[in-house]
Amino acid sequence: VQKGSLLYEGKAKKIYETDDPNIFLVYYKDSATAFNGEKKAEIVGKGQLNNEISSLLFEKLNEHGIPTHFVQKISSNEQLVKRVTIIPIEVVVRNIVAGSLSKRLGIAEGTEIKKPIIEFYYKNDDLGDPLINSFHIELLELADKEQLDEIKTLAFKVNDILLKHFHERNVRLVDFKLEFGLLNDGTLVVADEISPDTCRLWDKHTNEKLDKDVFRRDIGNLTDAYKEILKRLGGTVPCT
Ligand code: C5P
Repeated sequence: VQKGSLLYEGKAKKIYETDDPNIFLVYYKDSATAFNGEKKAEIVGKGQLNNEISSLLFEKLNEHGIPTHFVQKISSNEQLVKRVTIIPIEVVVRNIVAGSLSKRLGIAEGTEIKKPIIEFYYKNDDLGDPLINSFHIELLELADKEQLDEIKTLAFKVNDILLKHFHERNVRLVDFKLEFGLLNDGTLVVADEISPDTCRLWDKHTNEKLDKDVFRRDIGNLTDAYKEILKRLGGTVPCT
């Protein structure tokens, strides 16, 4: 396919049209942001690492029959995806208490959660992505009841697959964020990215953080952490 015009530029990615009306091209940028864009940095090689990691994880989901937007990786920083309309809900799945949940409920980070938890956040930069529930989703008309049920079912299925996949690679999947999109025909699919930008990943034995918290909290080298995740997933780690 031919790369067409830039459709949208986000904090970490650019979306281009292609000559196929049903296919978008995603370019992973070298920028890192946190706290709704308040903290920013250019990190050479980050885009390539996230493109590679996200591609491997979406391939894994596709293999397991999860409907996703992912088509294929086509270059170091680029992948092709199916054209979707994004549902503006950030779906967070949690297996271990961390981050905003730890702060909000006063539970120590690292506390195991017996049964995974799903949270919804309204994807809206101006409002700072507030926590919402199913009533708010209905009020805002973000998704209908059937779609929301399907979102929950898919999110738990994705969690089962990724928990096992990471566990086998000595990584604890603490929590992660998913976004969902609708294809032209209304089919619900997992979209956006799945990477150390959107997951909390801790080493199984040492609990070393191998995700964006390294950048958020200034506690290490982001590219080293992401390279370690890529290596454990069996990917080819770039030398840069
Ligand atoms: O900050 P919080 O603890 O709510 O984040 C939960 C999970 O969702 C983390 O893995 C984080 O990386 C991810 N997340 C994200 N994008 C956001 C907010 C959270 O990928 N805008």
